[in-house]
Amino acid sequence: MLVSGTGTLLQALLDAATDRTSDFEVVAVGADRDGIAGLDRARRAGVPAFTHRLLPGADRIEWDQVLTSRVRAFSPDLVVCAGFMKLLGADFLAAYGGRTVNSHPSLLPAFPGMHAVRDALAYGVAITGATIFLVDRGVDSGVVLDQVAVPVLAGDTEDGLHERIKVAERALLVSTIQALATRSWHVDDRRVYWDE
Ligand code: GRF
Repeated sequence: MLVSGTGTLLQALLDAATDRTSDFEVVAVGADRDGIAGLDRARRAGVPAFTHRLLPGADRIEWDQVLTSRVRAFSPDLVVCAGFMKLLGADFLAAYGGRTVNSHPSLLPAFPGMHAVRDALAYGVAITGATIFLVDRGVDSGVVLDQVAVPVLAGDTEDGLHERIKVAERALLVSTIQALATRSWHVDDRRVYWDE
């Protein structure tokens, strides 16, 4: 799993991995910064963690190549971005494209980007939600794996709405990863098919 912040989505997968109803394991947690709660959560769960920072002025292609090799060292079947704030590059996606999952706090393709909850509130939608999708070279543009709707309530603030979305988002991420880990699936023409 790749994280940049609080890591409550990570925690949901860590909890589910220790729960007998789930059939996946979190083999490692990578972060692009130190001192974040996500890394503490990994350590508390006894999961190997590493930090790979993109230093100011550093070569982004090289950063991506090193990230790829650091992830490869753990031989994951899937890579899950959970609040990871960096775009993955060509080398990473050459290795893990088609099996790198991200979670986004809106019903994509509505409100991609960094401020999805703020943008949804500003637009005045009545329903927003969360999307789990396969990462591609674009920004929040990959194949949708699953979505959940969350109503916007009168008086919602960005933080309050985001917290409510994250409750639904955590459950959606766990169920999607469980499905990816245990079922046979394929993607055709931007659509995921669950074969069994
Ligand atoms: C989630 O809403 C995710 O979609 C967004 O950042 C949030 C991460 O939350 N990109 P957390 O750090 O897992 O609590």
